[in-house]
Amino acid sequence: MEDVLPIAEIADASDARAIEKAARIIRRGGLVAFPTETVYGLGADAQNAQAVARLFEVKARPRLDPVIIHVVDVEMASLYGRFPESASRLMKQFWPGPLTLIVEKTPLVPDIVTAGLKTVAIRVPSHPAALALISATERGIAAPSANPFGYISPTEAQHVAEQLGNSIEMILDGGPCTIGVESTILSMADSPPCILRAGGTAVEDLVPILGELKVFSGSSQHPQAPGQMKRHYATQTRLEILEEGFEKLVPGEKVGLLTLHPSLKPEKYAVLEVLSPSGNLREAAANLFRALRRLDAMSLDRIIARPLEEKGLGLAIMDRLRRCSARG
Ligand code: TXA
Ligand code: MG
Repeated sequence: MEDVLPIAEIADASDARAIEKAARIIRRGGLVAFPTETVYGLGADAQNAQAVARLFEVKARPRLDPVIIHVVDVEMASLYGRFPESASRLMKQFWPGPLTLIVEKTPLVPDIVTAGLKTVAIRVPSHPAALALISATERGIAAPSANPFGYISPTEAQHVAEQLGNSIEMILDGGPCTIGVESTILSMADSPPCILRAGGTAVEDLVPILGELKVFSGSSQHPQAPGQMKRHYATQTRLEILEEGFEKLVPGEKVGLLTLHPSLKPEKYAVLEVLSPSGNLREAAANLFRALRRLDAMSLDRIIARPLEEKGLGLAIMDRLRRCSARG
């Protein structure tokens, strides 16, 4: 784009004129960060290979890691993917919402979007501003999470402004994300269907519809298993997942504790982040990335996270914490 703004304009995502302007920017090949119910996305025209190339550059994202196309409905989804019959109930029940489906791609999808794979990731977000933006753009929006590659995903417009504000055209501020962890990724290109990433849609809710289901729980640096990088969603500060009593605190060590419930001995820690006082995993997921960012900004020696039960959204939370704690 000729008229690129050096500093992103931050606009109210509920303002119809801001949405129109954002859609024009995307149609001209620019980049706009926008709210979804999961995390903020960094959007580009999904049919414009050059615009998507800039997405990768701005995020410093490896070209081998494909991005999700965001659409408004099943009709728009079928422009980009060939959906098997077995996907129709899923789309009906879970779209709009935090479920991404991997299916065979159509020729309309540039190779850079799928990193050369024959499959494509597609979802319908439920945030009204995301839907309004895609509708106004009149095409799919390719959008990874709006963070530098490997770091924690943004759940507020301010997070995006701090990290990418100098390299994109516009940020739509739609307030804090309600789900707070990324979408669940389900590959319909595998048989049986396979969960590639635990996320905002609980695996337990998919089982009754799909019956047989695999959960990919490994990790890899291999391009054939994108999105499964061992270290990801990472803080700068070292994070360890430890049960109460296993911390081995060193005298003078400045430690932050991330926990679901209030801790028994809060005075041992420099700071305490309680994800949900009532133990609600939905509330905990919504608070997770914000809490990690706050801890990461405090120059701590170490962050200790308490493990939580891997049920419902607990699976997605533990997946993020494990990748954050992985070294190298
Ligand atoms: O909730 C979300 O999914 C957010 C919001 C913005 O929609 N987006 C998001 O995008 O988390 P990103 O790029 O951070 O993660 C997308 C993941 C990547 O791990 C990528 O490897 C995987 O989706 N993916 C994309 N296309 C794929 C494909 N064809 N096969 C396997 N994995 C794919
Ligand atoms: Mg991401």
